[in-house]
Amino acid sequence: MNHQPVEGFSKLSKQRKIDWLISEYLSNDRSYEQILQQYWNNDSDLQKLHEEFSENTISNFYMPYGIAPNFLIDGKLLALPMAVEESSVVAAASKAAKFWLDKGGFKTTIINTKKLGHTHFILNVEPHKLQHFFNFKLKKKLFDATEDITANMRKRGGGILNIRLIDKTEEMPNYFQLKASFDTVDSMGANFINSCLEQFGKTLKEEVANEADFTQAEKDSLQVVMNILSNFTPDCIVRAEVSCPIDELKDDSGISNEEFAWKFKQAVNIAEIEPYRATTHNKGIMNGVDAVVIATGNDFRATEACAHAYASRNGKYSSLTHCTTDNGIFRFWIDLPISVGVVGGLTNLHPLVKFSLALLGKPSAQELMSILAVSGLAQNFGALRSLVTTGIQKGHMKMHLFNILNQFGATEEEKQHFVTYFKDKTVSHHEVIAELENLRSKK
Ligand code: MEV
Repeated sequence: MNHQPVEGFSKLSKQRKIDWLISEYLSNDRSYEQILQQYWNNDSDLQKLHEEFSENTISNFYMPYGIAPNFLIDGKLLALPMAVEESSVVAAASKAAKFWLDKGGFKTTIINTKKLGHTHFILNVEPHKLQHFFNFKLKKKLFDATEDITANMRKRGGGILNIRLIDKTEEMPNYFQLKASFDTVDSMGANFINSCLEQFGKTLKEEVANEADFTQAEKDSLQVVMNILSNFTPDCIVRAEVSCPIDELKDDSGISNEEFAWKFKQAVNIAEIEPYRATTHNKGIMNGVDAVVIATGNDFRATEACAHAYASRNGKYSSLTHCTTDNGIFRFWIDLPISVGVVGGLTNLHPLVKFSLALLGKPSAQELMSILAVSGLAQNFGALRSLVTTGIQKGHMKMHLFNILNQFGATEEEKQHFVTYFKDKTVSHHEVIAELENLRSKK
């Protein structure tokens, strides 16, 4: 079927958008409208709020919002809000939280909180001449020109920490950067950083144009290519860790504590040296991190990009977690680079985000960093614990069982039958189908 492009889609009313989609793409089948409508909120103000988060909204896309209780983090007992669709994530988090509850819980340390951004520009001038101009004129002008933008942030204890000129001409002709570091206190700071950087771009143009030491040809060569924060924040790191004597690593899977500790450490070491494994290992960590990132109204694309860039910082993609078993002590930790906020963005707007932050005791951005690192570490502990003992499918498929049964329209009675049926064995897709056929044939 050939479709026609649409003009001015964003200006159409919600109903008109739906009408157009149904006639253009859905063979005029109005039952699709029902699907969209059943997810509209009855409270029209709440519905409007969600529609205004993003352009061209025609419905809401639900995500399960679950709770992983019993997280002892730096002496505080927390219940973590997790927005995630993957069946086993919340269960794994809860199990790991409980495991560490009577072993001192999770300890965290904020290592640093610096955010970064760049003005990327092209200028055909000798690097030393530009450096001199930067040191003795431009740098101060950049601070002065952003005073208004930074005033509020400075009152809150943040602002621009430093600005440096970076010479990139060896990698690309005439390419330089103004590289700035920021403290954005309790906000993620994307808008603040980008506003400062855009001002840097303007000031750079003005100051280069007025610089007596540059020739006209040099001045004319300036191109400010872009001003943008970096989602790679290798100096915004939180460490979360757990530790206990190997003797206390009681595991119910039947292997000894020593064997468990040894296998667990091997699994982490494999992820440290093998990028294929590290990718899945880190994906599992981000299962835990992103679920809390989303529940607290933060940007999971940013946290994902940052984590994976950091995992490759030494030129080879590697594990975000590490483990030692020295002197009879099992120690497991994560160094997670993560930039999040508890003010600004969706945090004051989305009612469930407000709920999440209240549930977490209205954390500061640094406390939220700690909670996120713990969530990632706990998730990785749960995954590795299963992988080196029972295998992942046992727990995963147990949680996935209801998805399979729902696909086949199972009744509550049938579901109960399957819970008992799989009580002591690993769920598999083909066995569910076979047993369902068996059960229904008897009726
Ligand atoms: C599944 O979403 C995540 C795991 O594959 C992570 C891992 O293998 O470590 C279980």
